[in-house]
Amino acid sequence: MNPIRPSFHGPDALRARYRDVRSHSLSLAAPLSAEDQCIQSMPDASPTKWHMAHTTWFFETVLLQPHLAGYQPFDTRFHYLFNSYYEALGPRHPRPQRGLLTRPSHGEVLAYRRHVDEAVDRLLGDAAAIDPAVEAIVTLGLHHEQQHQELLLTDILHALSCNPLLPAYRAGGAPLLRIASVAPEMKWIERDGGVTAIGHAGGEFAFDNETPRHEVLLQPHAIADRLVNCGDFAQFIADGGYRRPELWLSDGWAAVQQQGWSCPAYWLAADDPRLVQHGTTHSGWHVFGLQGARPMEPEAPVSQLSFYEAAAYAEWAGARLPTEFEWEAAFGAPGLSQMQGQVWQWTRSSYDPYPRFKPLAGIAAEYNGKFMVGQVVLRGSSIATPEGHARPTYRNFFPPSARWQFTGLRLAKDIR
Ligand SMILES: [Fe+2]
Repeated sequence: MNPIRPSFHGPDALRARYRDVRSHSLSLAAPLSAEDQCIQSMPDASPTKWHMAHTTWFFETVLLQPHLAGYQPFDTRFHYLFNSYYEALGPRHPRPQRGLLTRPSHGEVLAYRRHVDEAVDRLLGDAAAIDPAVEAIVTLGLHHEQQHQELLLTDILHALSCNPLLPAYRAGGAPLLRIASVAPEMKWIERDGGVTAIGHAGGEFAFDNETPRHEVLLQPHAIADRLVNCGDFAQFIADGGYRRPELWLSDGWAAVQQQGWSCPAYWLAADDPRLVQHGTTHSGWHVFGLQGARPMEPEAPVSQLSFYEAAAYAEWAGARLPTEFEWEAAFGAPGLSQMQGQVWQWTRSSYDPYPRFKPLAGIAAEYNGKFMVGQVVLRGSSIATPEGHARPTYRNFFPPSARWQFTGLRLAKDIR
């Protein structure tokens, strides 16, 4: 079965979905000025303008050029500027220098988006032109754009966190960080071991890395009913968690030393000069987020943690991180909360191919498979994940030192 077969309900539905996803990118960028959209705060994070152009490049390169007769590229130089990592498509602008692209302007990138959107609309308006290959590419391109929508938010949040003014991405409006409403007391949910089926079974869309579905042997274990929250994590800090090498993996302890970590990435101590200049009177921790700096809320899931910090916390708590298989097998179990929509959850699983994994054909072969080394799987989804994007089988992945995403943890432990 084709693992990326889309759930396709006719050309009009595909066209409408294309418009919805593309316009959502525009609304995410709307609170940002042209200056905001050009900045790159570190090599791992891309400018908003680059995300807006690169997602457009994907449709132009993978969909329109091969499948729309007579398509004229908006600007052939953009192929070099906005390719991300596709070796098969030739050389590209270096990733750490994306923030140097003051040209093309913000307005030109918006014009690029309109040019491509009009062409895609023409292609999708011709029902006869929509064969299964076109459907699959449009669907992949939309899921790709949704991944960049999350990165757009995490990348601009990192950029804003570097600004001493601690500006909010969007002041006011509905809170983007939904605060957990679960009881503070964490409970263990016991799970039997045994052979369980893991991975996506096909039918609806899934990325190739979620397939094929296969059997995994689990040992008896227990999994926490909720995420580790900020109040829990503050206790780890107060107990000297960042100063006790026995809690840390070797690489993690090296990162603590080299980077000077003493709290999650966006936590601010009360005496932080950036807070002092804001004139805040709150005496405890603050957390910088999409609404700017706010007093830490003990019941909110802790976020912006590296895998190393998550693993050290688990060690301190006398527990461990769940494997990605334990996490997926537990999904939907009675009593489990916060599995999706808050923070991505670090697992104790390396990002490896499933048995008999086959990458997608063609250009999309470079989408996932080539990153399967040196990274760790995260499960769930976050407050920044677009609605409907994630699934129980979804495998996110980052290097263990990454801490600019909405990443936290849930505990697990062995039993019996
Ligand atoms: Fe991409």
